[in-house]
Amino acid sequence: MLSFVPGTIRVRIATAADAEATAAIYNAEVLGAMTTFDLVPRTVRAQQGWLAGHGGVYPAVVAEVDGGVLGFGALSPYRNRPAYATTVEDSVYVDEGARGQGTGRAILTQLTELARSGGFHTVIAHIAGDNDASVALHQACGFALVGVEREIGRKFGTWLDVAIFQYML
Ligand SMILES: CC(C)(COP(=O)(O)OP(=O)(O)OC[C@H]1O[C@@H](n2cnc3c(N)ncnc32)[C@H](O)[C@@H]1OP(=O)(O)O)[C@@H](O)C(=O)NCCC(=O)NCCS
Repeated sequence: MLSFVPGTIRVRIATAADAEATAAIYNAEVLGAMTTFDLVPRTVRAQQGWLAGHGGVYPAVVAEVDGGVLGFGALSPYRNRPAYATTVEDSVYVDEGARGQGTGRAILTQLTELARSGGFHTVIAHIAGDNDASVALHQACGFALVGVEREIGRKFGTWLDVAIFQYML
């Protein structure tokens, strides 16, 4: 976990070399939080595969300061049936020690810009449980609540609702 964030945040396209840093950030959420429905940590190799699967109009990005990765995010296909092709889903993860300093906003702002330049019509976010930080981040970036799916996930013995937020490009 990072504890100090000097300098200016830069958001760039992720590369295979970001697998270890981004897996560490993601796995802290897998093991310790309700923010992702994954239950098993990703190996660095699996994270390399995840990064390799993102590119073109479905990029993965990292936020860094002075070469240190603070967080990452991605645009992913919303659903695989072809009529959903104009919709994209975002994900954003920031190292616990780097939160509350604008990193998430920098990543999500970049992702919505990439979604616009990629020709998408709208961006969807699925936010699990009582994730006030993600709700605040998405609202700050212009997303609005459009619905809640009740108790569709179960993690650490707890039922999880999923709030659906949407941003019209
Ligand atoms: C959600 C998350 C990405 C936010 O990243 P962050 O770098 O802390 O967010 P920022 O500092 O850019 O803050 C963005 C906005 O959200 C608000 N915010 C951030 N954390 C908050 C919290 N815990 N409670 C209330 N508001 C919060 C900020 O005030 C800011 O609003 P403003 O720009 O209008 O002042 C981060 O908390 C995280 O990685 N959480 C774990 C993973 C996760 O939940 N990912 C999303 C899955 S849907």
